[in-house]
Amino acid sequence: MNHAMMNSQYDAYAGQKVVALVPHINIRAFCEDPHTVEAVQAASIDRRMARAHVQIHMGGIAGAVQVFQAELTPNVVLVETTANRETILSGLAQLAQVCGPETKVVVIGHLNDIILYREMMRLGVSDYIVAPVHQLQLIDVIAGLFQDPGAKPLGRIFAFVGSKGGVGSSTLAHNVGWYMSRQLHTDTVITDFDLAFGTAGLNFNQETSQGIADALSQPDRIDQTLLDRLLTKCGDKLSLLASPGALDRDFHVEESSVEVILNTVRNSVPCVIVDVPNMWAPWIKYTLLHADEVVITATPELASLRNTKNLVDLLKQARPNDALPRLVMNQVGIPKRTEIPVGDFAKAINVEPALTIAYDAQTFGAAASNGQMLAEVSAKAKAADAVATLAQMLLGQEKPIKTSKFSLPFAGKLLRKK
Ligand SMILES: Nc1ncnc2c1ncn2[C@@H]1O[C@H](COP(=O)(O)OP(=O)(O)OP(=O)(O)O)[C@@H](O)[C@H]1O
Ligand SMILES: [Mg+2]
Repeated sequence: MNHAMMNSQYDAYAGQKVVALVPHINIRAFCEDPHTVEAVQAASIDRRMARAHVQIHMGGIAGAVQVFQAELTPNVVLVETTANRETILSGLAQLAQVCGPETKVVVIGHLNDIILYREMMRLGVSDYIVAPVHQLQLIDVIAGLFQDPGAKPLGRIFAFVGSKGGVGSSTLAHNVGWYMSRQLHTDTVITDFDLAFGTAGLNFNQETSQGIADALSQPDRIDQTLLDRLLTKCGDKLSLLASPGALDRDFHVEESSVEVILNTVRNSVPCVIVDVPNMWAPWIKYTLLHADEVVITATPELASLRNTKNLVDLLKQARPNDALPRLVMNQVGIPKRTEIPVGDFAKAINVEPALTIAYDAQTFGAAASNGQMLAEVSAKAKAADAVATLAQMLLGQEKPIKTSKFSLPFAGKLLRKK
């Protein structure tokens, strides 16, 4: 694919676009421009490139030719050039002489030139990107070199986690998944990672099934066919990879099993909701760090504040090219409970809540005991509205935000002062 026209898309969708993981490969980059070096460096520390090994040099095409006269070429050679068409093509012809047959060459150039592009393809170049290159674009191109060209677009993974136990994270995850499938007509799988205590089966009033447990116990066998057998259908467009919700099996979960399962699911549906239990283990951390988006549900209490801050700090540091986690303040206004005001909570962690949901024992209680969704219990409930808003936000279908007296921008306030 010619990525010449794609830069603006990456600028607009940085953090939004689903970019696949890069496999365990060696990449050597030969840059000319310091901005490209920065982008390659940023790409090399991105979570999606964790398994790839990247070496960055200067010197462009000529530098690569010189190095590979003496050394074997890696899986991917990335060369940048600021030269004109003829110089580029003769340089690439020399590079072709020293490249192994399995090596894929990606060129970053500064010319948006279709003839150059065609000639490069003829020489066997795998892809051409016009500078300035964005780190996610680079990762996308490299990951694309190792993907089946006929594969469906990857689904997005939304991980829902609570700031402590019982804050309503699962209820929200299930309701958002249900809304996405039912009202936004998006095929969705809810994956319940709360192996012993998961409630997805109960909340959807389904017979107990062991979907996720069976998947985790045979990760080597997971493929589309097995996955289809393990899913419980909950609606036209909604399926559940349910947890056993029982204590009779012990699990030692490997990060690699989580990776295989989530990748298989995201290859089959556009939307994957992961109900992440409130506990800490390497595989939980892996799940959060590799989700396309993380939704943290928190209650306005001190322990929640500390834990949310720790989660936000970790996610910010480990995912520099991703959107911040979305914060949902839930169970706000429990009678007689001492609470941290939502504004203070947000200020302390420097993240504005995407939503605030009031404590509503009646609606939530009825939904939990009937095995129904909030909107099924009461379509008018504010919590049902909140679920709809969050689902739309996550799928990028939100309506324009109305300017309220609380959110007037600075310039707006000045205008009103007259
Ligand atoms: N806004 C709310 N008002 C009243 N009750 C609520 C609210 N949000 C959630 N609940 C109730 O709180 C309980 C815990 O919810 P849920 O199981 O979704 O939390 P969780 O964070 O997933 O907990 P766990 O740590 O057990 O996984 C449920 O009974 C749910 O109905
Ligand atoms: Mg839960």
